Amino acid sequence: MSPKLTVLLVIFSLLSHTTFESDPDPVQDFCIPNTKFNTIRTTRYDNLPCKNSTEVSPDDFIFSGIKSPGNFSDTGLSTIPVNPTNLPGLNTLGMSFVRADLKVGWFNAPHFHPRATEIVYVVQGRVYSGFVDSTNRVFAKVTEQGEVMVFPRGLVHFQMNVGKSTATIFGSFNSQNPGMQKIPSVIFGSGINDELLEKAFGLSPKQIGMMRRRFIPKRVRS
Ligand SMILES: *[C@@H]1O[C@H](CO)[C@@H](O)[C@H](O)[C@H]1NC(C)=O
Ligand SMILES: *[C@@H]1O[C@H](CO)[C@@H](O)[C@H](O)[C@H]1NC(C)=O
Repeated sequence: MSPKLTVLLVIFSLLSHTTFESDPDPVQDFCIPNTKFNTIRTTRYDNLPCKNSTEVSPDDFIFSGIKSPGNFSDTGLSTIPVNPTNLPGLNTLGMSFVRADLKVGWFNAPHFHPRATEIVYVVQGRVYSGFVDSTNRVFAKVTEQGEVMVFPRGLVHFQMNVGKSTATIFGSFNSQNPGMQKIPSVIFGSGINDELLEKAFGLSPKQIGMMRRRFIPKRVRS
């Protein structure tokens, strides 16, 4: 190999490590988390010890819970995440999955995944889908059955069922723990100081109160 080519290859491999950083590479075939040791009840399974492989079975690599939609929320959205908590075989492999169903006219509010790019396949229905880049440019279109769309890591994206029947989509993530932050809840449901929100959004205290009641997640509502 010519010295020039070697230098180029070295530079490329250095670049690809720094620019395409994702979950760490596996150092063994698989690592079924030994949840006996999950004393702090974390959902981050990658730091648990692995099960002895003699105790691992095919079922550790199969999840059957996405054959049909999950429970629909009051916003007409149902999501079933598939990650090491329900598909242990995914642990340490740097990926995860989701099934989402959307009732007619309903939507998945703008949100982002801090740790993963997502590629979404439309299984059925017509879904207006898009994301916003860091210059505030929107890339959005109606995606139809059989099409895929990619949402780059960390960018805000959204979906709305614009078809005439329930839409079903499958999403795939390049992290076993992509994380999710929903913009409305991040802003109005997290407890950011009211005065700051009034100034940032030009809203009155009464309007802020309205937004809070709407977006504070139910589990922390008293
Ligand atoms: C795994 O289990 C087998 C069978 O019980 C045992 O022989 C082996 O020592 C165990 N391996 C480890 C690393 O504990
Ligand atoms: C839907 O709700 C029922 C009752 O609360 C629950 O048992 C079931 O596990 C839920 N299904 C999913 C996919 O979350």
